[in-house]
Amino acid sequence: MNNKMSRAVLSLSAALSLVLSGPLAAVAQTPAAAPAAAKAKPVARAYGGAAVDGARLLAADSEPGSWLAAGRTYSEQRYSPLTGISKANVGKLGLAWYADVDTERGQESTPVVVDGALYFTTAWSKVFAYDAKSGKQLWAYDPKVDPSNGAIACCDVVNRGVAAWKGKLYLGALDGRLIAIDAKTGKKAWEVQTTDLKDPYTITQAPRIVKGLVIIGNGGAEYTCRGYVSAYDAATGKLKWRFYTVPAKPGDPTNTPELKSALKGWDGDFWKYGGGGTAWDTILYDPKTDLIYFGTGNGLSWSQEVRSPKGGDNLFVSSIVAVHASTGKYAWHFQEVPGDEWDYDVTNPLMTADLKIKGQPRHVLMQAPKTGFFYVWDAATGKLISADKFAPLNWASKIDLKTGRPVENPDARYSDTKAAIVQPAPLGAHNWHPMAYSPKTGLVYIPVTESSTGFMSADPKTFQVKDRVYNTATVSFSDKITELYGKPGAPQRGNIRSYLEAYDPVAQKIVWKAPDKDYGPHGVMTTATNLVFSGDWSGYFNAFDARTGEKLWSIKTQADVVAAPSTYVIGGEQYVALLVGARGLPPGQIRTSATSANNSRLLIYKLNATETLPTAGVAGAVAGKVLDPPLLTGTNEQVIDGEGAYGRFCSGCHGAGGVADKSIPDLRYSPALRNLRNWNAIVIDGERASKGMVSFKSVLAEGQAEAIYHYIVSQANKAKAEQAAKR
Ligand code: HEC
Repeated sequence: MNNKMSRAVLSLSAALSLVLSGPLAAVAQTPAAAPAAAKAKPVARAYGGAAVDGARLLAADSEPGSWLAAGRTYSEQRYSPLTGISKANVGKLGLAWYADVDTERGQESTPVVVDGALYFTTAWSKVFAYDAKSGKQLWAYDPKVDPSNGAIACCDVVNRGVAAWKGKLYLGALDGRLIAIDAKTGKKAWEVQTTDLKDPYTITQAPRIVKGLVIIGNGGAEYTCRGYVSAYDAATGKLKWRFYTVPAKPGDPTNTPELKSALKGWDGDFWKYGGGGTAWDTILYDPKTDLIYFGTGNGLSWSQEVRSPKGGDNLFVSSIVAVHASTGKYAWHFQEVPGDEWDYDVTNPLMTADLKIKGQPRHVLMQAPKTGFFYVWDAATGKLISADKFAPLNWASKIDLKTGRPVENPDARYSDTKAAIVQPAPLGAHNWHPMAYSPKTGLVYIPVTESSTGFMSADPKTFQVKDRVYNTATVSFSDKITELYGKPGAPQRGNIRSYLEAYDPVAQKIVWKAPDKDYGPHGVMTTATNLVFSGDWSGYFNAFDARTGEKLWSIKTQADVVAAPSTYVIGGEQYVALLVGARGLPPGQIRTSATSANNSRLLIYKLNATETLPTAGVAGAVAGKVLDPPLLTGTNEQVIDGEGAYGRFCSGCHGAGGVADKSIPDLRYSPALRNLRNWNAIVIDGERASKGMVSFKSVLAEGQAEAIYHYIVSQANKAKAEQAAKR
């Protein structure tokens, strides 16, 4: 870890002294925060002690200067009662300090700030602790995840944060370990393997801690996994309960009564491959109902014709499941997408809120999932209160409020002979990126993406599920799909855009939209001073007026931003923290970080601060990439075979059509294209395995590595010709 904090070094005595947490001058005297804040007495807590417990989390509004958990409170509204930064002075926000991060690729975690220390995680599941005021690094913890796990991480080697509890921090590592770390020293206290290493599970979510239990799920539903959520004793790491989200083979002892009845909505041998339904992001605890809610992902494969040939609901795929916190026993479920085949995970952030609906106070659960429908449920019973469109979509016309089921557009279902164009695409109208709710404006702030994609199923007679590769059993490029895109009224292919949206969950209507210059969703936070904070993919961190969407402040971050910010107070001053660095660099940005090619950093802002980011390019870093492919020597058949194999085995990481969309190399620019020997050394012999590019020898059929090579050479030559035509 190379951090640049020497300019603001904290003295050791300060580091060891006590910090006060409790009500601060900057607390909003609003109805939302005032009652608890007015009564609470300051409590002396040891610096760096991470002394979070249930009572403290329940009373989070009485210490708004802390950010106790990734979502701040149990409700996960990501609303801060702090008022130090307001519409009047937000223009004076400047960089207070920053820390370079020594990993690249997606940086998705929200910094947690408690008892004077700030904790965050990075790509490859590393954890860092900093003094929240001075920026001095306190410790770094590297779980040393084997890079070969990168090959089974569908959506990058990311991590979305830690949970703090009674002096420890809890980390879900990419390789399926749950690790407890001593908050003072950064040393491992215990670890357990939450998954079977034979199966391609990964963990990217932040653990949640409820009544001394660490709750953790996993991902892997594109590979061959069966989803489940587990609870471990926070003190000992002992497994307390586990809830499977899809049934196993009939007769299996893990099939609870609910799963036995779910079996009726499944067909075929789906259980051989796990079935999917992984709960890979949202987990929410509600102290009022004492329930834990989680959202589940897609089934395996995406194509229902392959997964469950006679159809069926395929419970609990694409569902919200509520379980009793202490036992993990089933309470209720709500399936948003029965028989999903569009990768419509409903793992997107959940939050609870108290709303007034039709004059009645209601305690609700809310979600803006991939599907484009915003849901409001009764938190205790799961009864649907309302659902409507928060983004354009074409796969259903509405949600039937009586049955809770979508009224599907029959054209949206596909098979191996029928194509469909579906809006939104699998990345969703809203994915994992945190949204925020302000009890002051009554609005939810959602990072929205508009997109569409074509689908056809692989042939169910010949499709074979393979270990450790994408098994969606879908085709996204075919003549039939191209034909559909050509029809009048069809969505425009590849037309993808994003914006920040304010949504009224009571009236179920869009209030404002703030468009992004460059496509890309980004996490959100809101404050009691009616500000909404969010980064973007043009390399800026912005503050908006929560009522109107007017942009009030903007500062250059030199990086793509996907993570959500958090805010805290130390010594009476309000700070805003943001982790940056995602897919490549923003347009026109040079690399200025010596430790990451995408300028990954932790950035900390406060009023009137004047620190600056480096402006000099890093020696040896490539500024502008040049397309320099060899001439195409492959046959037409090879290029076509290569396109298919690339789509199945490589595109998940290297991007659709050979165009990179993450910080993983764009193969069209690869020096390895110069000759097939170099190419095979990487793809077949695993020369770069230690960097997350494992050998594909056991997966690719004879000649496929070469076919993919010819396909990429062809794509690179096409792109080069297009560039030349533009000049
Ligand atoms: C799980 C993610 C993942 C998958 C799937 C994947 N790669 Fe990679 N690949 C990587 C990463 C990460 C790197 C960068 C390694 C490094 O830093 O050297 C890489 C690098 C490469 C490179 C070298 C690029 C350069 O820097 O010049 C080639 C060639 C390559 N991959 C080919 C393939 C092919 C062909 C496939 C499909 C058969 C594939 N990859 C599938 C993650 C992946």
